[in-house]
Amino acid sequence: MGGSGRLACVGLGMMLGAHLAPRARSHIEQADVVFAAVSDPLVELWVQRMHPDVRSLQPCYAPGRSRHDSYRDMVEAMLAEVRAGRSVCGAFYGHPGVFATVPHRAVAQAREEGFEAHMEPGISAEDCLYADLGIDPGLVGCQHYEASQFMFYRRRIDPSAYLVLWQVGVAGDRSVSRAATGPAHRRLLAERLREDYPAEHTVWLYEAATLPIAVPRMDALPLSGLADAGTAQHTTLVVPPAAPLQRDEAMLARIAELECHDHLLAGAPAGN
Ligand SMILES: C[S@@+](CC[C@H](N)C(=O)[O-])C[C@H]1O[C@@H](n2cnc3c(N)ncnc32)[C@H](O)[C@@H]1O
Repeated sequence: MGGSGRLACVGLGMMLGAHLAPRARSHIEQADVVFAAVSDPLVELWVQRMHPDVRSLQPCYAPGRSRHDSYRDMVEAMLAEVRAGRSVCGAFYGHPGVFATVPHRAVAQAREEGFEAHMEPGISAEDCLYADLGIDPGLVGCQHYEASQFMFYRRRIDPSAYLVLWQVGVAGDRSVSRAATGPAHRRLLAERLREDYPAEHTVWLYEAATLPIAVPRMDALPLSGLADAGTAQHTTLVVPPAAPLQRDEAMLARIAELECHDHLLAGAPAGN
């Protein structure tokens, strides 16, 4: 098992030409073959300027086709070249490990087969969101979920922290093949959110700028307006906190007791 083939999955960042880190660029330039998973043809052209053999993974997607099948084909396309002994680079927009199935699977599969495989981080939509919306995830905490998974499973939401829902444009798509779902699906999503947030609570529809000349979309709207708001494949929903942090008095008392004990020990004469 294994051989001279190797794989690097790198992130291109969100903004064309502006977010690419030197290590990711070097993986692209030095690979034998580059596979690009970017939805914007302009971004693909930009990657092609860095390497003579750039192959698009976009044709793996087809209308009505399950994304599970597309992902499997993408992994296979990259792994076939690795098995042939080539140095392969998978270039993915954003961060290759953030809400991205293919790079994780490809790296795991390559390693399982004994090849060297590596992931190089990139600037994700999440990073841009923190900068554009002025959110520090450390302030009160931040929960991230994929919107459909959030609808399909019972999750315990903490309304005193931020909530970020990814892929809100296809929220509730059970077929994993649709390019978009509509207001009826988003109404159900809003209904679920109403279990934890008031109808008038402000939420944000966020789209990071992907070109240096563009501006980000940062639409504030009440939760009650979510169903009829326009969303796209690249929209992320951000729900700010709706409740204050709750002090855990029992834990605070136990910590105080611990500190009092440590203090007493520190003050005790040596040898006691
Ligand atoms: C399959 S995930 C890929 C995320 C990507 N790997 C990253 O690092 O941001 C696709 C989801 O990312 C989010 N996304 C992609 N592009 C975005 C953008 N320009 N602005 C905001 N969110 C974006 C949306 O939630 C979208 O449905």
